[in-house]
Amino acid sequence: MSEHCVWQNLRVATLAPRENDAWGIVEDAVIVTKGDHIAWLGERSALPLEFAHADRTVDLKGALVTPPLIDCHTHLVYAGNRAHEFELRLEGASYEAISRAGGGIRSTVAATRAASEDELFALACERARALMREGIATLEIKSGYGLSLSHERQSLRVARRVGEALGIEVKTTYLAAHALPEEFAGRSDEYVAALCEWMRELHDENLIDAVDVFCERIGFSREQTRTVFEHAKALGLPVKLHAEQLSDQGGAALASEFGALSCDHLEYVSDDGIAAMARAGVVAVVLPGAYYFLRETQLPPIEKLRASGVPIALATDHNPGSSPTLSPLLMMNMACTLFRMTPIEAWLGFTVNAALALGLPAARGRLEAGAKADFVAWNASHPRDLVYRFGHSPLHQLVLKGQAHEALDV
Ligand code: NIG
Ligand code: FE
Repeated sequence: MSEHCVWQNLRVATLAPRENDAWGIVEDAVIVTKGDHIAWLGERSALPLEFAHADRTVDLKGALVTPPLIDCHTHLVYAGNRAHEFELRLEGASYEAISRAGGGIRSTVAATRAASEDELFALACERARALMREGIATLEIKSGYGLSLSHERQSLRVARRVGEALGIEVKTTYLAAHALPEEFAGRSDEYVAALCEWMRELHDENLIDAVDVFCERIGFSREQTRTVFEHAKALGLPVKLHAEQLSDQGGAALASEFGALSCDHLEYVSDDGIAAMARAGVVAVVLPGAYYFLRETQLPPIEKLRASGVPIALATDHNPGSSPTLSPLLMMNMACTLFRMTPIEAWLGFTVNAALALGLPAARGRLEAGAKADFVAWNASHPRDLVYRFGHSPLHQLVLKGQAHEALDV
């Protein structure tokens, strides 16, 4: 028999719009969980008798309850850091120049290859726990700092292990097309052919949920991106793209042709790129952490994306080079202050639209009867309070499968 638990003394922001309220706020609410799903959610005064008797009652002491957050773009598996490159950039070197000189992604590849699987696992778990302390319970993790068959396999295996160890859902993305490894210098087409072969093997090992490419002057060309996408398509794998982060490569239009789940970054996306995304139902993932940390000045075209009806998701883009943050709440604040998104857009960006960017149902970003018994209790009274404050996490409890999660202690 699954446990029947009544959670009371709370207010819920379901994010399922009700009448004039986009937040879907339910005041003086009760949530009834049965095992790992929500059996009932609503106002206390409407609680049906059949749900009133519980095996366990939890007093949430007036907390605000929301759906857990979804981080739909991270590069969580790597060793080392790039603090030195941060200094170089402050002295005037550009991100692109550092990359062309053999630093950037490739310096993280060297550190990652030198680490053992257990070391990478410990580092990634620590980072995932930090994200969970700000309400994350679903996480995308990209490979892309291995760049050989065995090292990419190792990174993807570590990503899967993180999900199992912490009891959260991890979606893995194969990003071998992130940078050209040293051993393929001057032979980028051969590298693309090799990584397409590896894709087949790693897919057979059930290590890949989606395929991504860094389509950029310092990454891979549009034609190389097409080759990778064709291989993904042949295997039935969904694609996503690091598109127009530093320049317009026409990546968004190409990804749309392949029905991509998402195009990410998008500072330099063209009107045609946006139109193609809108037609194909591709999610825009905007990444204020990378925009801020690279001191970018070209804003992603939020107003145009909005007007075209493209769903906008947000993510931390956690990585050592362009976005070493582990704070989704700070990203929500920055999306509002830097990108002029609204607080409700910031929340939908880390819930409903982030789910879509991972190929999950939109309902995964809402709290409703029948949903998984996963939610976050915050010491706050309204979700907009969490966007307004920054540099602070008022998490009270992360509840997964109807149980308060124990693994968040440092
Ligand atoms: O999302 N742009 C490519 N990938 C990462 C940066 C990776 C790195 O610098 O290590 C990004 O910004
Ligand atoms: Fe990224």
